[in-house]
Amino acid sequence: MKKMTLFSGKTLAATLSITLLSILSINAVTTGEQSPKPIPDDVLKIVNNSCGKCHNQGGSGAALANLNLTKWDNYNAVKQAKKAEAICRVITTEKMPPKSFIKKNPQAVISVEDRATICAWSKQ
Ligand code: HEC
Repeated sequence: MKKMTLFSGKTLAATLSITLLSILSINAVTTGEQSPKPIPDDVLKIVNNSCGKCHNQGGSGAALANLNLTKWDNYNAVKQAKKAEAICRVITTEKMPPKSFIKKNPQAVISVEDRATICAWSKQ
C-alpha cells in the first residue's frame, strides 16, 4: 500500500511536468515570435565579405558543419537564433574570422561599427 502511494505521487509529478511543458511549448508557437527570417542585407554584406569564403556553400567542411550561410533560410527559428548569437559571440571574442585568414585577407577584418550591426541583429 505504501509503495502504491509513492508510485502515484511520482506519476502525478511526471504528469504535471509534462502538462506544464506542453503548455509552455504551445505558448511559444502561438505567440508567433518564432518564425525563420532571412539575414538582413546590411548583415549579409558583412558576413559574406568576412565569413563567406568558409561559411558559404563550397567553403570548408568543418566551417559549414558549424554554420552554413547559404542554407540559412532552411534553418528553423530556434537554430537561427542560436547561430546569430554564436556569430556575435565569435566576432566579439575575435575567434572568427580566424587570425590566419585575416593575415592574408585584411579586408575581412570586422570594424567596430559592423560588429555592432551584427550583434544588434543577433539580439532581435
Ligand atoms: C578561413 C575560414 C573561416 C572564416 C573566414 C570564418 N570561419 Fe567560422 N569557422 C571556420 C572553421 C574551420 C570552423 C570550425 C572549427 C572551429 O570551431 O574553429 C568555424 C566555426 C565557426 C563557428 C562555430 C564555432 C563556435 O565557437 O561556435 C561560428 C559561429 C563561426 N565559425 C562563425 C564565423 C563568422 C561569423 C565568420 C566571419 C566573421 C567566420 N566564422 C569566418 C572557418 C572560418
